Amino acid sequence: MNAIPNLHTAERLFSGAIAEEYEKLKLICPAAAEMSRRVGEFMAEWLRGRAVPDSVLELGCGTGVTTAALLAALGEAPLTAIDSEPAMLAQARANLAPWIEAGRLRLVENDALSFLRAQADGSVDIIASAFTLHNFMDGYRSEVLREIFRVLKPGGLFVNGDRYGLDDTLEHTRLIQEEVKQYFKVFRDLNRIDLLEHWIVHLFSDESPDRVMRLAPALESMAEIGYQAVTVHYRNEVNALVSGVKL
Ligand SMILES: C[S@@+](CC[C@H](N)C(=O)[O-])C[C@H]1O[C@@H](n2cnc3c(N)ncnc32)[C@H](O)[C@@H]1O
Repeated sequence: MNAIPNLHTAERLFSGAIAEEYEKLKLICPAAAEMSRRVGEFMAEWLRGRAVPDSVLELGCGTGVTTAALLAALGEAPLTAIDSEPAMLAQARANLAPWIEAGRLRLVENDALSFLRAQADGSVDIIASAFTLHNFMDGYRSEVLREIFRVLKPGGLFVNGDRYGLDDTLEHTRLIQEEVKQYFKVFRDLNRIDLLEHWIVHLFSDESPDRVMRLAPALESMAEIGYQAVTVHYRNEVNALVSGVKL
């Protein structure tokens, strides 16, 4: 059996140049901004007709793109957003300053699993995430999904807009090849071959067999943990919006 490094600690996949130039992601992956918008839209729809939640978490808030969409959807409800990478959180702090000052947003530097483990059973209404879980090693991700389930209140929601690999591996590879072509095009045009290298290396880690999060097994493992109504609301190439509830 392969050892699982970093099972209990976050890896530093978003430090250095990738963090400093994270806004370039919208050029190499326009689908990411679209997904952030959809996560917010989904949240607004979920909340319609429900009581204002008093405990909402976001795992892996990064620079705050999805966080802003969540805050817009949440109305008066407060949000706690967690990220393990100081360089990403520093940008979130600047980008989301008005919400922090208004007391609507708390940013926490911690890794997702450690943070979740410190929360009481059944204490959180909603846990949202975007483009974070696919970065985790399989073992760490399973633990995180179990912990999310444990800390959700009965009736609580987990929503994740993320990279979910295609179950058709040939088609998946074709899409990744298209993605690589897009990376080359964008970074050649920007004359940033240094960033091209960082993102290609990052993509290799996303695509490694001990990390890639394929859709069907991901949904099955959520159902095995106990999530109900596990649903794919939106699918666009390697991206999907998935939710599950704890009854
Ligand atoms: C691709 S970014 C996505 C950021 C943001 N959710 C968005 O939609 O733009 C992934 C983020 O997850 C964070 N991250 C990765 N592993 C983590 C972990 N184990 N615990 C907490 N955050 C983590 C990274 O630091 C990074 O900011």
